[in-house]
Amino acid sequence: MKIGILTSGGDCPGLNAVIRGAVLKGIAVHGHEFVGFLDGWRGVVEGDIIDIPRTLVRGIAKQGGTILGTSRTNPFDNGGGPEVIGAHMRRLGIDAIIAIGGEGTLAAAKRLTDAGLNIVGVPKTVDNDLDATDYTFGFDTAVQIATEAIDRLRTTGESHHRCIIAEVMGRHVGWIALHAGMAAGAHAILIPEQKTSIEQITQWVRDANARGRAPLVVVAEGFVPDHLDSAHSERGLDTNGRPRLGGIADLLAPELEARTGIETRATILGHIQRGGVPSAFDRVLATRLGMAAVDSVVEGAWGTMVALKGTEIARVRFEQALGRLKTVPQNRYDEAAVLFG
Ligand code: F6P
Repeated sequence: MKIGILTSGGDCPGLNAVIRGAVLKGIAVHGHEFVGFLDGWRGVVEGDIIDIPRTLVRGIAKQGGTILGTSRTNPFDNGGGPEVIGAHMRRLGIDAIIAIGGEGTLAAAKRLTDAGLNIVGVPKTVDNDLDATDYTFGFDTAVQIATEAIDRLRTTGESHHRCIIAEVMGRHVGWIALHAGMAAGAHAILIPEQKTSIEQITQWVRDANARGRAPLVVVAEGFVPDHLDSAHSERGLDTNGRPRLGGIADLLAPELEARTGIETRATILGHIQRGGVPSAFDRVLATRLGMAAVDSVVEGAWGTMVALKGTEIARVRFEQALGRLKTVPQNRYDEAAVLFG
């Protein structure tokens, strides 16, 4: 068989480990051939491929980014319906596709599979918000990077007796904020799932300061404090309540400084959380998912994605993973909040 692999959506530490796992198992165990579509669905829509011989994946499990490139191209918005993609696959002799991506990528994969194409998926996102898998690879690395950065911010905050606000990724969910905040010993963790008033945040900051600590607030980029409603939109929020410029940390810092009288600094960690070498956990998880995706192809399990269930790799249908996000449950937030005081 000839299998095409694509990586699509925001990049994520561990993508190369998935590719390597799939290619090594596919060649060694099944004698398959592999090609890579360049830049996600763009390469599929345009039939832009490279060969992936065994030598191309040598040593790449520890390499950040993706050797295939990625994009946020949606095949259906770019003239790439099932007929076009099916025709490319026949012309190039490609029997099946392994699509590595998040919600958007897998939703496109589902539509194409429903139209008769042979596609299996591998879930990917640093945000860890994909349902039907216990963890996504890349999340552990992002938490590690964020925690190390926050540890560093803490020492400068302590030296200057300042309040530090660290903004981490998480457009819709607060998994990175929750885990990095717990690991770094934050005095407040602010996440999109959890309504938190500015009075409550102010109180946490004041309490930490009263205990002689440099207050440390970890905020997910998608968090909107409940006082920043539409009436405040002229101050820099867009219609979704997200800051137009900078991040939510930039809005919170002057507000908290004004309310507490404590000098406050904001740092937005941004894409550093997605770059560089994956953690050992992510390399192992990604490798296992890549190998399992090849098994899915061999068994013709079209329309499914591989997933982590406990410590085992399982297989779930696309529809079980799509349509809703895996948010931080209340009990996980309450557990972390015990540590704020
Ligand atoms: O979905 C992953 C993610 O890293 C989000 O946390 C973040 O909001 C977004 O991607 C950033 O996207 P881009 O790389 O396109 O700016």
